[in-house]
Amino acid sequence: MLDFKALPPLSLYIHVPWCVRKCPYCDFNSHKSPDSLPEQAYIDALIRDLEQEVPHIWGRTVQTIFIGGGTPSLFSAEAYDRLFSSIRALLPLSPQLEITLEANPGTFEAQRFADYLDLGINRLSIGVQSFNDQSLTALGRIHDSKQAIKAIEMAHKVGFENFNLDLMFGLPHQTEKTARNDVATAIDLEPSHISYYQLTLEPNTLFYQQPPTLPDEDPIIDWQIANQQRLADAGYQQYEVSAYAKDNKQCQHNLNYWHFGDYIGIGAGAHGKISDAAKQAITRRSKQKQPQTYMDKAGTAGVMLTEEIIAEDDLGFEFMLNALRLTDGFPTPLFYQHAGLPISHINSALQQAEQQGLLTHNIHTIRPTEKGQRYLNTLVELFLPE
Ligand SMILES: C[S@@+](CC[C@H](N)C(=O)[O-])C[C@H]1O[C@@H](n2cnc3c(N)ncnc32)[C@H](O)[C@@H]1O
Ligand code: SF4
Repeated sequence: MLDFKALPPLSLYIHVPWCVRKCPYCDFNSHKSPDSLPEQAYIDALIRDLEQEVPHIWGRTVQTIFIGGGTPSLFSAEAYDRLFSSIRALLPLSPQLEITLEANPGTFEAQRFADYLDLGINRLSIGVQSFNDQSLTALGRIHDSKQAIKAIEMAHKVGFENFNLDLMFGLPHQTEKTARNDVATAIDLEPSHISYYQLTLEPNTLFYQQPPTLPDEDPIIDWQIANQQRLADAGYQQYEVSAYAKDNKQCQHNLNYWHFGDYIGIGAGAHGKISDAAKQAITRRSKQKQPQTYMDKAGTAGVMLTEEIIAEDDLGFEFMLNALRLTDGFPTPLFYQHAGLPISHINSALQQAEQQGLLTHNIHTIRPTEKGQRYLNTLVELFLPE
């Protein structure tokens, strides 16, 4: 039986499912944009979707909002203005609200981004991927490195003090030198946050069916280690598998995911996870993925693609799958607070992990060791239900 004394912090995720074109490595729910984007109709659908979610989270304050995609920077500031009016009318918002918008460097316009900032969007996540034009072309990106640099300079100029750059490594045409240059250029441009991911070939992508030539795995790992050191030397502290922040500017929205917090997900293919004190249960919901189906069904029961209560036996694993991604681990009481179960539920897995040198734990903190971070899958699997 779960036992929530208080509910976890609440976030709101908003999905925008269109891009100028589909990148061959991307398995996110993103679709090539039609000639004319149905911006109005989609915002209407998001509002209906949100209205339907509200009864699950009555009275709870939203701490962070993340507008992800897809390419949310394809939508106008007027569209978000209308959406935010409805959000404000429906939900209490934290005075420290973090609002992030994912932006593609090929879509930057100074006035639109100034308007985003005026609306309260106070964080950008800019999908740069690389500053090497050969790699960018092979990745099917709609921008070159010059445009990426211009976009970042514009973000500064317009007044964004908090923004992330997404970079990937292990790319087609990448060498030790270009991998180093990607990180050095990113650092020179002074973002507050850098996400640094290894390119993975995901099923259901063009790259999976027709794999590009990639650098060998061993040198990739060496470049990664050297570049992580460059990030650290420049003041970017790693706090999660792929996330680095300067001046304590961690992404509060993602931290809430990793802390197994709650979130509502609205938009095509969006996922949510909500704890319910009355039912003492945690429910996951996901929405219809096809944009047109989503718009047709939003506001009706048919918008839901999946809805399931997380089995009590799976909660230890699900919590750890998220929280052990954090470099410094998490406060031990968080397990009880956010999974609703006593720590004794995972005691034997904790002991085993400690014996294998993968994790340390005491009444204050649970944290992965360096070995645990390197073999994260092995560590997390110890928490699978028997
Ligand atoms: C949801 S995507 C959206 C970002 C934005 N649409 C863009 O691409 O400019 C978030 C980030 O995930 C990373 N990503 C996407 N597909 C990936 C893959 N197959 N392997 C590694 N990282 C990936 C990219 O760095 C990307 O910027
Ligand atoms: S722009 Fe981003 S979301 Fe869109 S297809 Fe490319 S990687 Fe995926």
